[in-house]
Amino acid sequence: SRAVLRGSTSCLRAANRNFSSSSQRGHRVAVLGAAGGIGQPMSLLLKQSSSVSQLALYDIVGTPGVAADLSHIETQSTVQGYQGDEELDECLKDCDVVAIPAGVPRKPGMTRDDLFNTNASIVRNLVQACARSCPEAMICIITNPVNSTVPIASEVLEKAGCYDPRRVFGVSTLDVVRANKFVADAKGLDVSTVTVPVVGGHSGVTILPLLSQTTPSVSFTTEELDALTDRIQNAGTEVVNAKAGAGSATLSMAYAGARFVLSLLKAMSGSPDVVECTFVKSDVTDAPYFATPWRLGKNGLEQNLGLGSLSDYEKSKLEGEVLPALNKDIHKGSDFV
Ligand code: NAI
Repeated sequence: SRAVLRGSTSCLRAANRNFSSSSQRGHRVAVLGAAGGIGQPMSLLLKQSSSVSQLALYDIVGTPGVAADLSHIETQSTVQGYQGDEELDECLKDCDVVAIPAGVPRKPGMTRDDLFNTNASIVRNLVQACARSCPEAMICIITNPVNSTVPIASEVLEKAGCYDPRRVFGVSTLDVVRANKFVADAKGLDVSTVTVPVVGGHSGVTILPLLSQTTPSVSFTTEELDALTDRIQNAGTEVVNAKAGAGSATLSMAYAGARFVLSLLKAMSGSPDVVECTFVKSDVTDAPYFATPWRLGKNGLEQNLGLGSLSDYEKSKLEGEVLPALNKDIHKGSDFV
């Protein structure tokens, strides 16, 4: 445990040193899996942001082309492509934020958990590289099953002696994006004014939209609650089926991933009141990782805004459906490492 303690202290020093240098030079952001269906459009959206000064793109195939293409866009940031294991550490060096959409997506008939066997080791290996090359970076995990890959990432960092739970995020933003859109459409509201917190996990019944806490305040019949909750929980499958074997959500996920990363960069630069729902280490329920709305800050997670006051409908889903399934997914991830 002394070794772990020494490791943590040196990680912390590195974090402090790198924070002051990063605020002078802008933010270096890596996308791991950058040539994929999510990676490419997400990198495009990040390239358009002035919060990013360096975009470091990594994949096992195709990154030179994606990087060359994006580097011609007339925004300030530089773009570099890195390909293959031997270039991974160089890609991650000095990164402030790492977004990970590497891994296989679902095909019709598959659950997110069916991806575990392939994606668990991809995430483990990539996060091990983060621990070596940018132990202080914010790590945003997009790769499914998020309910298990976030525990995997956390255990890897813990083993490497540089786990800071404030800096590891499961990106569940797409659930919020979908909830906002579906509720706005159902109720004829301007979607830019609608916010629906989505808590729990990021898979099937573990996704729990808190429709009772929608702002602006709206009321739903029980039929509407059932229909909207079911649609939000299964929206990913709607896309998987529509793509008929060609993958899962990529464009809406790229939007959601960029939204989360840019919110984080904004908070890291000192903007107050940046709030996002995210699946992280949590003590709000008996599940060790759980998504709730969080205030983000310079060091990542700053304040857990918690569950708020739940309706009876939401309470019964939380206890009866969310927690049992979520705990199972989480333990599968932790046990893997
Ligand atoms: P894709 O197959 O189009 O792209 C994945 C990319 O990862 C490919 O370019 C591939 O070469 C790369 N890759 C594979 N192994 C790698 C490794 N060891 N290191 C670096 N790159 C590697 O898949 P897509 O559609 O982009 O999905 C990626 C992941 O995101 C999937 O696991 C999917 O389930 C997940 N996803 C997550 C969502 C969320 O809400 N968090 C929503 C939608 C998808």
